[in-house]
Amino acid sequence: MSDVGEFRQRLVAAVGLPSIDAFLAQVWQREARVLHDLCDDLTAIIDADELAGLACEPHVESRLVQKAGEHYRLRQGPFSPRDFSALPDSGWTLLVQDVDKHVAAGREFLEGFDFVPRWRLDDLMVSYAAPGGGVGPHIDSYDAFLCQALGRRRWELSGQVDAQRLCADCDLKVLQSFEAERGFELAPGDCLYLPANLGHDGVAIDECMTFSVGFRAVEPSELLGAGSLAADLAQAWLEQASALGHSGYLDRLVSSPPNPGELTEETLRRYRDQVKALLELSPASLDELIDASLARFLTEPKESQFVEPPDEALSAAGLLARLDGGARLRQHPASRWLFIRGVRDESFVVSVDGELYELGSESADFAALVTDQLSLPHARLRAALTHPRHLELVLEWVNSGQLVFAQ
Ligand code: SIN
Ligand code: CO
Repeated sequence: MSDVGEFRQRLVAAVGLPSIDAFLAQVWQREARVLHDLCDDLTAIIDADELAGLACEPHVESRLVQKAGEHYRLRQGPFSPRDFSALPDSGWTLLVQDVDKHVAAGREFLEGFDFVPRWRLDDLMVSYAAPGGGVGPHIDSYDAFLCQALGRRRWELSGQVDAQRLCADCDLKVLQSFEAERGFELAPGDCLYLPANLGHDGVAIDECMTFSVGFRAVEPSELLGAGSLAADLAQAWLEQASALGHSGYLDRLVSSPPNPGELTEETLRRYRDQVKALLELSPASLDELIDASLARFLTEPKESQFVEPPDEALSAAGLLARLDGGARLRQHPASRWLFIRGVRDESFVVSVDGELYELGSESADFAALVTDQLSLPHARLRAALTHPRHLELVLEWVNSGQLVFAQ
């Protein structure tokens, strides 16, 4: 399925709504939907043998889940061919994460889902299951499109469930009690759209493969720690404190205290007021800190994924010569990109793999062209490189490996 426009038309037809916007307004994050005949042969992207091969690679995140009675046992990859030949005929599944980072056709498949902002896209996970295989009833904090690539899978869905009640003896977060409200079978080409936090259980009827396109959401509380907002705030407060300088002597005594051991209410009040004044940041500076923290957090690369610099660094002249010779640039599959508009002025900030790059108002087109598409539009990029800052940045990203020459 090469044509993104055609994929969207098929999605709209499958969901029975007039447009993608209608899908987003009425279905997205609201209800599960079965989308029949959405995809062509997905095994052309990766087949079962190739998936098993990927699961043997050390840099690929893979899991084997095997059903043992009522329990589910988990093993983390990498695996060896011998692990697979030792498996029984039924009751297990292999799951491989980030297939889009390792298989170019997987990345192209994801472009069909660009109607959702790119920062929400997490990865393409592909599973292969022997009959009876599955990961057990569970919920995901992700919205997902679960596309059937091979064989049939029976899905059962429940409503909102109590995520606290998990199977104590399972290696996975399997729900302890799961009451299906509806069930159906999906065949190759069909897809299930599943909003986050909905109980679901997919069991392979035949030998089956499922492609899951996952979309993450970020909890505001995550930003404080993992998103480094807490550290940024502390830094801003310290800078403010040092800019304001010393406040003078805080404890002028007017009389001898009755209790020399007491830190008095009056002194406490004075310190409270002064410290609170130091902690007050202007709404615009707070907005800037939050925006920067979010942009960094959302582009932080996954731990399992890394970008490596090329063997030889290019010079600016070398880069331009290659582009003028027809070479095209694309984002490294493991790198994450987005841009935001500045809070106070017309500036732009491009965020790449957790690093922020500030740009002036004249860089609006440049910020969009390096972040919008996986393959950078060649003519627009070349025109943008007449600006020295743009050339400097693109050269930096090429020499860090975050931009690579398309094959
Ligand atoms: C699978 O592909 O086996 C599991 C997908 C899911 O339930 O999230
Ligand atoms: Co799931």
